[in-house]
Amino acid sequence: MKPISKTATNVHESATLAVDALAKKLKAAGEDVVGFGAGEPDFRTPEHICQAAIRAIKDGMTKYTPASGLEQLKKSVCTRFKNDFDLDYTPAQIVIASGAKHSIFVALMCLLNPGDEVIIQEPYWVTYYEAIEMAGGVPVVINTIEENRFKVTADQIEKAITDKTKLFLLNNPSNPSGVVYTREELKAIADICVKYDLYIISDEIYYKLMYDGKEFTSFASLGEDVKERTIIVNGISKSYAMTGWRIGYTASNKELAKVMANYLSHSTSAPSTISQYAAIEALEGDQDSIEDMRKVFEERRNYIVSRVQAIDGLSCLVPDGAFYLMVNIEKQIGRTIGGKLIQNGDDFALALLEQEKVALVPCTSFGLPNYVRLTYATSIEEIGKGLDRIEEFVK
Ligand SMILES: Cc1ncc(COP(=O)(O)O)c(C=O)c1O
Repeated sequence: MKPISKTATNVHESATLAVDALAKKLKAAGEDVVGFGAGEPDFRTPEHICQAAIRAIKDGMTKYTPASGLEQLKKSVCTRFKNDFDLDYTPAQIVIASGAKHSIFVALMCLLNPGDEVIIQEPYWVTYYEAIEMAGGVPVVINTIEENRFKVTADQIEKAITDKTKLFLLNNPSNPSGVVYTREELKAIADICVKYDLYIISDEIYYKLMYDGKEFTSFASLGEDVKERTIIVNGISKSYAMTGWRIGYTASNKELAKVMANYLSHSTSAPSTISQYAAIEALEGDQDSIEDMRKVFEERRNYIVSRVQAIDGLSCLVPDGAFYLMVNIEKQIGRTIGGKLIQNGDDFALALLEQEKVALVPCTSFGLPNYVRLTYATSIEEIGKGLDRIEEFVK
């Protein structure tokens, strides 16, 4: 038989989903596994949002919608942008897709020509690298260091720019580091992007999960010239505990939005109509439950950080947002634990899962082999139990 697509066969399995799948398999086999792997809130979708979906079904809202989403949902997105960031968008600039991951993919497909370079920073969310390649682009990865809180600087970006650079892809707050950029840092990056005529995709999916009273700056709010070349990616999955509903959205200039709408019209069409009605309620309805969830995440962050920092041989930065913690395991490299030689985060994660039944994600696939990622989207009790086991493992 003739070979199947080279682009498709080059795509790797998502490491985060793979660890999660293994942990679920062990759990199904009756093992007492503590899961720090999955990147999704453990909360149920708030009741008023579920009711909106049920209403939509009962009212017969079960037909196709326009490929780029319901006008009413686009208006709700515009209202959120106005209320949250004082940003003015019109519905024609909004494109609804099947999750933020899908929004990123479609934006890349519509922006890149073969060989176009996309600058990303390490540690990066696994999907970026793969999606850029799937869209025919070339990922250019900038290394960052813990001493600079894993932030990329405007200077580093400027040095990475070539005549093939098309865009800079930013994730703020970051998965996996939980780090958040200040307005000044973003402004310096934006100036470089404007100077070299780059697009920016700013993935702001975790923007509602901010801690210590820190303020979040949306990239598009850095000036009209910046807004024009920025594609904001957002969605309801993380902030509203709605991962399974599959709604993401972008805000961009009208020309790109139109191209993305055309692209969607021949691929997925619109996401589920029922989910779109639920998303309207999520974005426009009562936001108190969202703040309640954020507060719980903050308590968990404080607890998990204090536990990790108390373990001899492990360390971590204090994350400003999202629900991830990157743990530095450099001091474990070269050790043999339970008969297993630890050479990187992959070995650490596998040995920990086998010996202590704790699932976490090695950061190898995020570009940092000497780190592992823990998700604190799980109860304080589970976090405590898992950290007891990690402490025992490292001892
Ligand atoms: C940085 C980042 N962007 C986007 C997504 C995907 O969000 P969605 O579930 O809406 O596709 C995730 C999910 O893990 C993420 O971590």
